[in-house]
Amino acid sequence: MHTVKAIYPGTFDPLTNGHLDLIARGSKIVDHLVVAILRNSEKGTPLFTVPERVEMLTEATRSFGNVSVATFNGLLVDFARAQNARAVLRGIRAISDYEYELQMAMMNRKLDPELETLFMMPAEKYTYVSSRLVKGVFQLGGDVSSLVPQLVMERLKARIPAAQEAR
Ligand code: PNS
Repeated sequence: MHTVKAIYPGTFDPLTNGHLDLIARGSKIVDHLVVAILRNSEKGTPLFTVPERVEMLTEATRSFGNVSVATFNGLLVDFARAQNARAVLRGIRAISDYEYELQMAMMNRKLDPELETLFMMPAEKYTYVSSRLVKGVFQLGGDVSSLVPQLVMERLKARIPAAQEAR
């Protein structure tokens, strides 16, 4: 039988409802979706450790029968090959995402011509949501409860107690 396994890679620091929306959409299109957290991200010091992010993603994706959570280091194409995945799933929220995403997709194609990149759009209501904005707004006392899963909200409150005082 012809089955399609795809990787949904990212930093997920933290997981947002936009990510979850994309996971839901992707899981309907492919047979198996591996949500893969990059361990050696160059994005600076993360708010949540990789094991914490694995826990949050595992919990939040428990209800999907065909979604699993993994971590990877190094090149995405190498991880995809080791997983026997034929595709990479990425979300595009706005035109501003496109240039970077196209560059990455083309570089990945150069590195492995067999690996396809699938772009999907999250629900309109999440087009402005990013992990970076969620962290920044929460740190300043803003309400992000409709933008992240409840279990992420609880961890944010535990991690940044000062933000609660600012409210
Ligand atoms: O959530 P992010 O930070 O936008 O995800 C970026 C990610 C993890 C998909 C990207 O940085 C990546 O794939 N890194 C692994 C290194 C790699 O393969 N680089 C070559 C592709 S340009």
